[in-house]
Amino acid sequence: MMMLKTPTSISHEDPKRRFFSCSFLSTIAMLSAVLFFGSQFVVTDYKEKFLAWGSVNGMQHTISKSCETQCRPEGTEALPKGIVSKTSDLLMQPLWGPRNKKNTKSSTNLLAMAVGLKQKESVNKIVKKFISSDFVFMLFHYDGRVNEWRDLEWSGKAIHVSAMNQTKWWYAKRFLHPDIVSDYEFIFLWDEDLGIENFNAGRYLSIIRKEGLEISQPALDPDNSEVHHLLTARDNRTEVHRKINKTLRGGRKCDENSTDPPCTGFVEMMAPVFSQASWRCIWHMIQNDLVHAWGLDFQLGYCAQGDRTKNIGIVDSEYIIHYGIPSLGGSAANKTNAEANDQPAQNINLPSSEQPVSDPRTEVRKLSLAELETFKNRWKKAIREDNCWIDPFQKNITAK
Ligand SMILES: *[C@@H]1O[C@H](CO)[C@@H](O)[C@H](O)[C@H]1NC(C)=O
Ligand SMILES: *[C@@H]1O[C@H](CO)[C@@H](O)[C@H](O)[C@H]1NC(C)=O
Ligand SMILES: *[C@@H]1O[C@H](CO)[C@@H](O)[C@H](O)[C@H]1NC(C)=O
Ligand SMILES: *[C@@H]1O[C@H](CO)[C@@H](O)[C@H](O)[C@H]1NC(C)=O
Ligand SMILES: *[C@@H]1O[C@H](CO)[C@@H](O)[C@H](O)[C@H]1NC(C)=O
Ligand SMILES: *[C@@H]1O[C@H](CO)[C@@H](O)[C@H](O)[C@H]1NC(C)=O
Repeated sequence: MMMLKTPTSISHEDPKRRFFSCSFLSTIAMLSAVLFFGSQFVVTDYKEKFLAWGSVNGMQHTISKSCETQCRPEGTEALPKGIVSKTSDLLMQPLWGPRNKKNTKSSTNLLAMAVGLKQKESVNKIVKKFISSDFVFMLFHYDGRVNEWRDLEWSGKAIHVSAMNQTKWWYAKRFLHPDIVSDYEFIFLWDEDLGIENFNAGRYLSIIRKEGLEISQPALDPDNSEVHHLLTARDNRTEVHRKINKTLRGGRKCDENSTDPPCTGFVEMMAPVFSQASWRCIWHMIQNDLVHAWGLDFQLGYCAQGDRTKNIGIVDSEYIIHYGIPSLGGSAANKTNAEANDQPAQNINLPSSEQPVSDPRTEVRKLSLAELETFKNRWKKAIREDNCWIDPFQKNITAK
């Protein structure tokens, strides 16, 4: 089925679009400058300037004028345009001999995972599932143990980043800048505790391309997974689903007319897959200090490049198990992550230094909940302060 993308007012930063708006703005600025100062300024003052430099001819004058409207990336104004390399990639290069070339025939994708040595076997299984498809691997070692991965045959081809006790979102914000990963069609930002017996990366890619899913995740096998949100549980009758017709644990009813998360337009954070364009938007939404990124899942729809009820979906035919094994913050208790659930908790107390530190897991959870509140408040403040922003998902504009 062909997905018709609805035109949207969501401001996503497509480079071409940015260039356009940029040059458009400077054109407006120039026009208003002309109106403001009058033609006299333009004719005499400009001419004088160019005469002062000498060797003015008509040709150069027109070139300079058109250059005024060009928009160069900030910081590159002193460089000739052709030398500016605005984006990069994760392609490794040999020290000598022919350069490695990008595969121009097929698209390349990125699998980035936060990993610890304890889950080495699970991670190995996951990576092996992706090797035959065209993927670049990036491992974020939150336990600082990198050498112990060397024996895996794919290890030398993966990019290893190590920073102690940092979360997936901390890494993603710092090492997956959209200009660095702009070569990759899809970005898989996955946890390590996933069972992927029933997952095929190649088939998954062809399904999300066919369905036009900008943001997606493989469905969770409900019998063997921690499922926090009913939407992400596998429906074994369909290939892909985008909404559910069920009553959530909190009592909220989801039906075919629901338009907002977590009834639709939503994925969980353990195995999201982002298109290039949606990632460019999401990267900007990730807050530097809110490392657990709670609350981000509910806002992903703003980065869906249009209608979130169409462009976000769960792939049922390629599904995974989420074991919910605790990783960061100790191993005592079971992972309680995302118990924020269908009804995010209210009245959260910020962790106070007077409280005794209990087990790390509890502390992580406490901070996650506090971060959720902070994120919500920042979002509200951002809306209040941005008069130009219109909520594309507002049901009733007048009720604002
Ligand atoms: C689909 O899932 C339902 C409920 O989980 C189960 O009862 C049914 O047997 C499943 N069907 C198939 C074909 O696996
Ligand atoms: C949704 O579920 C209700 C009962 O729970 C059922 O009557 C209705 O037909 C379902 N709608 C769709 C579109 O499946
Ligand atoms: C969904 O909307 C349609 C059209 O407005 C309506 O006929 C239908 O009853 C609605 N379904 C539910 C479950 O509210
Ligand atoms: C990382 O966290 C563990 C507890 O999970 C702690 O023992 C260790 O000291 C931390 N390391 C650093 C460098 O913060
Ligand atoms: C973790 O969860 C499993 C089953 O979900 C349970 O049997 C086990 O007791 C739990 N462990 C702790 C420490 O809560
Ligand atoms: C929007 O809100 C206004 C007042 O709050 C109400 O009169 C109107 O019927 C609403 N429109 C829709 C489509 O819900």
